[in-house]
Amino acid sequence: MFEKLQPQPADKIMALMKMYREDPREGKIDLGVGVYRNAQGQTPVMRAVKAAERRLWEEQTTKVYTALAGDPAFGNALSGLVLGDAVARDRLAMTAQPGGTGAIHQAMELIRMARPDATVWISNPTWPNHPSIIRHVGLAMAEYRYFDEATRGLDFAGMIEDLGKVQAGDVVLLHGCCHNPTGANPTGQEWDEIIAVLQKRGAVPLIDIAYQGFGDGLEEDAAATRRIAAALPETIIAASCSKNFGIYRERTGLLMAVSENAKATGVTQQNLTHLNRQNFSFPPDHGARLVTMILEDEALRADWEAELEEVRKGMLALREKLAAELRRTTGSDRYGFLAQHRGMFSRIGAPADKVEELRVKHGIYMVGDSRMNIAGLNEQTVTVLAEAIADVGL
Ligand code: LMR
Repeated sequence: MFEKLQPQPADKIMALMKMYREDPREGKIDLGVGVYRNAQGQTPVMRAVKAAERRLWEEQTTKVYTALAGDPAFGNALSGLVLGDAVARDRLAMTAQPGGTGAIHQAMELIRMARPDATVWISNPTWPNHPSIIRHVGLAMAEYRYFDEATRGLDFAGMIEDLGKVQAGDVVLLHGCCHNPTGANPTGQEWDEIIAVLQKRGAVPLIDIAYQGFGDGLEEDAAATRRIAAALPETIIAASCSKNFGIYRERTGLLMAVSENAKATGVTQQNLTHLNRQNFSFPPDHGARLVTMILEDEALRADWEAELEEVRKGMLALREKLAAELRRTTGSDRYGFLAQHRGMFSRIGAPADKVEELRVKHGIYMVGDSRMNIAGLNEQTVTVLAEAIADVGL
């Protein structure tokens, strides 16, 4: 049977990671995969995570199964972080997931079960795994405009016009904050207009929130998700702890489905739990337990928030510095958008051949659509990058 298998297209982020690993050059710079790195180029275990792990090692007496939906304490803690009190608890169904990707995948399966003829609308561009998963589960897909290549900001008029074509019951996939790959995000007022269009069209929002705390702060980054969930009768939310807790390999995420009323929540919860059972039975627990411990313990939480804030401010400082350095090396203000973008990524709007030239000539790795991971830079490499960008004539 295996001779019938066709080769699969390579995931471009994963392919870039491999190329970087295989590059023997000393001064190579990895601005590819979305992983936070500190000034020393490391992705450290966060202090609160280490402390929670130590405590867990001492206190945990069993590794027996949790619940199919995951430990309810994790759902309560993480949904609290994401949603605050935006929706009544009895409208919320949740399952723990193996990372944000697991949550997105299972959201698509839920949509396919509930409304197999729904079209999922994605931003153009979006995280490449979004369309890949939608295709994989066999749902129809359409794109809405999002990024203005000229300003490197949001194409808000295009976005609103395209969302105006959404049919009732279609799903609109939105990035809750820190848009991946562009770094361009709607303002509060623009979110209001987006919400109004979703309401008018009868759309179901699916919010991918993977970078809460990396943009303007934990509360600020959750604001759009909360407003959408409070305003719409149904919302699906996929949250990831990979980045903001730095627990990438622990695979820790949460799928939340907000139903119209408490009566509908029971069946939604049952379907979500059923999907866990079909796909992997019990979700991974280690990362989820650490997150729960941190969020429930005042001191651990305060320390985690403080460290996350250092990370966020560090990325903002790198953005400012890169914009300034590019002003110096290119003699123009055209990279000013870098300081406006938020989150880990910015799409700089370079053509593929220039991205290639940066890699071949300067050992600088960014995704082919010219997405760069700001957190892959440090004080020194910001200057190297700014000079390389000018050198290739960008
Ligand atoms: C990214 O976009 O680089 C991250 O979300 C990591 C991944 O899985 O692609």
